[in-house]
Amino acid sequence: MKIAVMAGDGIGPEIMAEALKVLEVLRRDGLNIETEPALVGGAAFDAHGHPLPAATLALAQSADAVLFGAVGGPKYDTLLREHRPEKAILGLRKECDFFANLRPANVFPELADASTLKPEVVAGLDIMIIRELTGDIYFGEPRSISGAKGERVGINTMHYTEAQIRRILHVGFRTARQRSKKLCSIDKMNVLEAMQLWRDIAIEIAPEYPDVALTHMLVDNAAMQLIRNPKQFDVMVAGNMFGDILSDEASMLTGSIGMLPSASLDASGKGLYEPIHGSAPDIAGKGIANPLAQILSAAMMLRYTFNLAEPASRIEVAVRKTLAQGLRTGDIAQPKELKVSTAQMGDAVVSNM
Ligand code: IPM
Ligand code: MG
Repeated sequence: MKIAVMAGDGIGPEIMAEALKVLEVLRRDGLNIETEPALVGGAAFDAHGHPLPAATLALAQSADAVLFGAVGGPKYDTLLREHRPEKAILGLRKECDFFANLRPANVFPELADASTLKPEVVAGLDIMIIRELTGDIYFGEPRSISGAKGERVGINTMHYTEAQIRRILHVGFRTARQRSKKLCSIDKMNVLEAMQLWRDIAIEIAPEYPDVALTHMLVDNAAMQLIRNPKQFDVMVAGNMFGDILSDEASMLTGSIGMLPSASLDASGKGLYEPIHGSAPDIAGKGIANPLAQILSAAMMLRYTFNLAEPASRIEVAVRKTLAQGLRTGDIAQPKELKVSTAQMGDAVVSNM
């Protein structure tokens, strides 16, 4: 298993170090894991003048999977758009055709109090958000800011082809089939043509999955329902933009965005695995970031790309045990609880394995 390791910026390197400790345990126990690091994001821009250097992209393409940290930071915000760290992750998704983003949001029983919502609203929550990653307003043309100062116009375009919609909806239906057979398709068909097409295709495909109950929800309502009664959902499928927003919202149901891993898969199951959170520049370098989303991303990688369910659950069980033992980084600690460092959290997961 050749894994490209791209830690990136901010807290990326700190949390990646902990995920690598976990993989090292599995390697010592006999898994044939080989890791190769590469610079990406702001770190790559600083070293090579580009957030996604050709060598980094080539490594992503030749590796069996990519374990990704986070990119971005205030010092890069004034760069030209094509040099910004975010371009790296968007470029990797597009170039490697990692179109299917799986973002599970589970509430660990130990953390039901960590959510800002009432524990009874979130306890036992287990939803899967499936987000399309290669189309939509993220990549649509035309896009520009033009015109003279005072009269400037900003343009972005929501753009989806039938093929793009179709393949992500199929991922949604297949995922629902493996879970509770309920799929909620998110759109904004009351206003947007691109989303009317999304709705039409969802209805067209549904008969191929007679065992899956398909429902549709407008994205604004979905945002509201997610905090009103999140347990009504099981699998949600959405376009790139709406999925981006809803998955951040869903993460907070679990108590902390620092807990959520994700998988971004191509049609063959190869994937990029990353926490759904960003580079958190405000806490970078302090050794206090929560490494669990990164560690759980490594578990997802074993499960989805390498079909290694057993080592994946070994990691997940160790994470649960660590939480049950009361270890908390700042983001998931209650006001009076003792806080552990990034490395202490990672070491505890390792010893629980
Ligand atoms: C995410 C992030 C990215 C996105 C950014 C960093 C480009 O918010 O993975 O959710 O918008 O997709
Ligand atoms: Mg996001």
